[in-house]
Amino acid sequence: MVGFGYIYPMKELRSRSWFGKTDKMGFIYRSWMKNQGFPEDLFDGRPVIGICNTWSELTPCNAHLRDIAEVVKRGVFEAGGFPLEFPVMSLGETLLKPTAMLFRNLASMDAEESIRGNPIDGVVLLTGCDKTTPSTLMGAASVDLPTIVVPGGPMLNGKFRGMDIGSGTHVWKFDEERKKGQLSDADYLYAESCMSRSAGHCMTMGTASTMACMVESLGLTLPGAAAIPAVDSRKKVLAHLSGRRIVEMVKEDLKLSKILTQRAFENAIKVNAAVGGSTNLIIHLTAIAGRIGVPLELADFDRLGSGIPLLLNLMPSGKFLMEDFYYAGGLPVILSELRDVLDMDALTVNGRTHGENVQGRDVCYNREVIAAVEQPLIEHAGIAVLKGNLAVNGAVIKPSAATPALMQHRGRAVVFEDIEDYHRRIDDPGLEIDASSVMVLKNVGPVGYPGMPEVGNMALPKKLLEQGVTDMVRISDGRMSGTAYGTVVLHVSPESAIGGVLALVQNGDWIELDVEGRRLHLDVSDAELERRKKAWAPPVVSQADRGYVQLYRKHVQQAHEGADLDFLRGGSGSEVTRDSH
Ligand code: FES
Ligand code: MG
Repeated sequence: MVGFGYIYPMKELRSRSWFGKTDKMGFIYRSWMKNQGFPEDLFDGRPVIGICNTWSELTPCNAHLRDIAEVVKRGVFEAGGFPLEFPVMSLGETLLKPTAMLFRNLASMDAEESIRGNPIDGVVLLTGCDKTTPSTLMGAASVDLPTIVVPGGPMLNGKFRGMDIGSGTHVWKFDEERKKGQLSDADYLYAESCMSRSAGHCMTMGTASTMACMVESLGLTLPGAAAIPAVDSRKKVLAHLSGRRIVEMVKEDLKLSKILTQRAFENAIKVNAAVGGSTNLIIHLTAIAGRIGVPLELADFDRLGSGIPLLLNLMPSGKFLMEDFYYAGGLPVILSELRDVLDMDALTVNGRTHGENVQGRDVCYNREVIAAVEQPLIEHAGIAVLKGNLAVNGAVIKPSAATPALMQHRGRAVVFEDIEDYHRRIDDPGLEIDASSVMVLKNVGPVGYPGMPEVGNMALPKKLLEQGVTDMVRISDGRMSGTAYGTVVLHVSPESAIGGVLALVQNGDWIELDVEGRRLHLDVSDAELERRKKAWAPPVVSQADRGYVQLYRKHVQQAHEGADLDFLRGGSGSEVTRDSH
């Protein structure tokens, strides 16, 4: 029989205020845990590692994370830690209605309180599908323990009749082809299984891949993590090594705030430009910065990112997929190409800098996939932040996904009051619209939808598709899927549901888009806008008067601030003084 002698280790970890107690509370904290068969010595003061798992069968992109968690545990045990896996709310992009984004902040609260309220000294975040990365990271940032991310990894390349097809990107393509009568119903159905043929998240440079690149460029993963396919055995190696490493990080007290510095955020913005990452990064990175207390503004994304060249040739902007990115060398090659513009002294979770990490990993094995900085795919990538009376607090556009000829455009508005109005009328043969029109969609912002869904890349009217029109200017207060493309102006702030000028646009109004000049202008006089404003009433949103949705609508911040809940900004640290009984 062991006595209580082991209970006071050299270094006092936060888990000791649970497992280190010798009174009744110590009994309670340990005894119930022992029903899982944990031997006595696991409670001896070794680092307790929480494995925050977003596994769910309702989040197909993360469905393999249970296996990954077991591998992380191996590493934790090996390094002398005590791993404890716990679930948090998992947000699946494809199934969750009205949009997974509505629940990002809720999931972040789940992650935050689960970490803080439990005897955890360090955290491993297992993420994948779009929102599962920012939500858990936002929560972890508000606690600020040593934290490492293991991205679940992309699916293998989609394969359809001899060609590579990309998650999401080919959904929009196939949908158009089917509407034009170029793809049969049977082929359309068959393509579903061809697109998603292995475990993992979207393998285009959609939001999930963007988030994976983001966490690696922030320094929150071991080097090379982002691009490893979910089913590649080296994903397990990464998980194993991450399990080992988090134990060391606890001993070194390498907290999240030591890595998530201003320079880390600036690196992430630049890398996102070079990889052609999703516009959704803006909202998530801003929200994460808000949690850890680093000032970040919408203008920073343009200032830091728009001069960066596009190096990665991945769908939707380009041709290849994440599997190809991995074989070409992965993110370390991008980091190394950008070494002159990145802060290579930024610290990463392995205790070394990006500069040290890329040594020996800087060889590109396929220049078609990753371009050299001297010969980029596009000279200036990144995201352009637009301002004007139509978006006083800003709107964004991803030039690399847009049509160059439309980046300076003046056209008449065709207005859809909400998403139902759009669906009702878009394919109406009588709809007055031509290729020069500007499609305007209202009430798809954070408050208005609610939750700011990915509907900004409205499909074009069938009759124009049949005429061969491939792109049109589209404007909304919503987001678009990172897998989508087009001349799409997003994140208009303030949104229409709270009375932003977007709410006042009427059919036939002239709208001017000037990406180069960073301008988005509604050509209507101030007096007329004032008159329209007086006649305006906020939209009625159904199922929004109770529960989380009611709380969300009351407290959500606008897109340019990261769409977090106002009371979640900042953090509460990791200390909890009171016991449970
Ligand atoms: Fe989950 Fe794209 S749907 S990553
Ligand atoms: Mg998405």
